Amino acid sequence: MVALLLGQTGDMVNEIHGLREICKGPVADQLSVLKGPLGHPAKEIGDFGLRQRLLRGIHGGMTSIWIVGCEPGAGQDAWRTQMKENVSMAEKNELWTAVDSYIQQTLAKNDVALDNAMEANAAAGLPSIDITPNQGKLLHLLALATRAKHVLEIGTLGGYSTIWLARALPRGGRLVTLEREPKHAEVARTNLKRAGVAKKAEVRVGAAAESLAQMHSEGVKPFDLIFIDADKPNNAVYLDWALKLAKPGTLILVDNVVREGALADATSEDPAVVGTREMIDRIAREPRLVATAVQTVGSKGHDGFAIALVRE
Ligand SMILES: C[S@@+](CC[C@H](N)C(=O)[O-])C[C@H]1O[C@@H](n2cnc3c(N)ncnc32)[C@H](O)[C@@H]1O
Repeated sequence: MVALLLGQTGDMVNEIHGLREICKGPVADQLSVLKGPLGHPAKEIGDFGLRQRLLRGIHGGMTSIWIVGCEPGAGQDAWRTQMKENVSMAEKNELWTAVDSYIQQTLAKNDVALDNAMEANAAAGLPSIDITPNQGKLLHLLALATRAKHVLEIGTLGGYSTIWLARALPRGGRLVTLEREPKHAEVARTNLKRAGVAKKAEVRVGAAAESLAQMHSEGVKPFDLIFIDADKPNNAVYLDWALKLAKPGTLILVDNVVREGALADATSEDPAVVGTREMIDRIAREPRLVATAVQTVGSKGHDGFAIALVRE
């Protein structure tokens, strides 16, 4: 069991299914109180949105949510509504995860190499922000369907998605994947080697925008499929490069465009949303592209990807 300390709440928490208020008072005291029933130190989740915290807690295998309270007072009604919404979202999320897991077990099983890659990523302390097995299988299918021989990935992490893509390459096929963090690149290279695809997949280290400019100046052969999954504020920049490195028939895929619905918020100041909306606007205005975006739900919540084809 993992404790999720929201540092907010009052008496209303008892009304809400699945949530328990165990004490009130300074957070330091609450942490030591929790240590007893949990049998291990409680974990304080950082200061980001409540909903995110709840959902991430549940993703992390939490079996119950413990709310540690501070003072009751103004704003409790708003908190009550928010908490109810959060729990209903969390329940939906459990269902999505169950379906995701069924599809994964039946149609998109990780094999030993993919499992090893996930384990190596976790052991090296890489963030768990890779695509899911089902999404990996989808990338693999799309690469097969387009008979992609030359693939570009922007955002490698530990190479989980890279393995799915590299495995779809025909004999003589090549993949280039771009990663800013040397540590991620090193873990990815080991994972690619263990998956038996190191010879066809090159990991280039550096800021993607620079690597893309460098590849363009080297006159690299156009790519058949381009998967964009790096820093989201730069999505529009990566789309521009993708178009320069594409040819008629190239498929461009962009991950994490829906962002739990934030995509629809024109007033959002979140740089990831702003960057993604800018990219979608450019796609919409670009006569060379035919495109759409698809919402997805699953073990990593509510998100989606954009898919654009360079016209023949
Ligand atoms: C979402 S992860 C990629 C996940 C990977 N595609 C997968 O599904 O297994 C994003 C990666 O992009 C890298 N990244 C972030 N900003 C970057 C940049 N400006 N240039 C290159 N890589 C970047 C991060 O270090 C991280 O490893």
